[in-house]
Amino acid sequence: MDRYVVIGNPVAHSQSPRIHAAFAQQTGQSLHYGTLLAPIDGFVAAVKRFRDDGGCGMNVTVPFKLQAFALADRRSPRAEAAGAVNTLAFGDGDIFGDNTDGAGLVRDLIDNLACPLKYRRILVLGAGGAARGALLPLLAQMPASLTIANRTVAKASALAERFQAHATGAAIDACGFEALAGRCFDVVINATSASLSDQTPPLPQGIYAPGALAYDMMYSRGDTRFVAAARSQGAARLADGLGMLVEQAAESFLLWRGMRPDTRPVLEELRRQFATG
Ligand code: ATR
Repeated sequence: MDRYVVIGNPVAHSQSPRIHAAFAQQTGQSLHYGTLLAPIDGFVAAVKRFRDDGGCGMNVTVPFKLQAFALADRRSPRAEAAGAVNTLAFGDGDIFGDNTDGAGLVRDLIDNLACPLKYRRILVLGAGGAARGALLPLLAQMPASLTIANRTVAKASALAERFQAHATGAAIDACGFEALAGRCFDVVINATSASLSDQTPPLPQGIYAPGALAYDMMYSRGDTRFVAAARSQGAARLADGLGMLVEQAAESFLLWRGMRPDTRPVLEELRRQFATG
């Protein structure tokens, strides 16, 4: 049977095996998808062992996405833009690296949440790996503008500069959180890791335009800190990253298996399980 894993450290909490098992069942594909806990200093050896044992591909999660990027012999343009790889495919003696996170985010926004991005004013919070992975797919939707706000302004400025060439028509700008005062946006995406320390970026009041969507790339049982803050600041629509998780998995499945699963029932089931504990 074709074998896949999600590799990470830690990895036991990953929902990916459950998601891919559902995709496989739905599409009638015969495959097994498990977890692979790699030692922090043993990523490359673990990948090679899995591949040499006949493994077909992997998802890569924290903290190995940069190492996966370096390890890949060939990479997709979106992986090059993201500077990180979350999907590896083994074949024909080489390792192909892709990044499906940003595409998963955009698909969740557009298809699942019915939130078109064309001509919208988008605010991305954060300038680390998660933000960087989202920028190219977001810009491809031709928003009116894309603003990157970060605690460390220099990192946001560097990202804005780097991606300006990809922004056909959209204005890209960068700033700190306080400098957002007096501005408003249609889509606000939290790509910071602030919630890992139970914090949320300090956003000025009035940041959410009428009808705006607040989107957290993180997810949790109940509201994330960011979603709770957005709710109290009057965001009309709220979403967490569970849909992005399922959609990035579907993009990986498409790369490996050549077919796109129907994500809706899988996302619904995952949400039900999250809601009921
Ligand atoms: P990831 O791969 O999850 O993006 P990362 O590359 O370490 O992780 O980036 C983390 C991002 O979250 C950064 O933009 C970071 O801001 P700094 O560049 O100023 O460090 C942001 N971040 C982390 N904790 C934060 C907090 N408490 N408030 C606001 N931003 C935070």
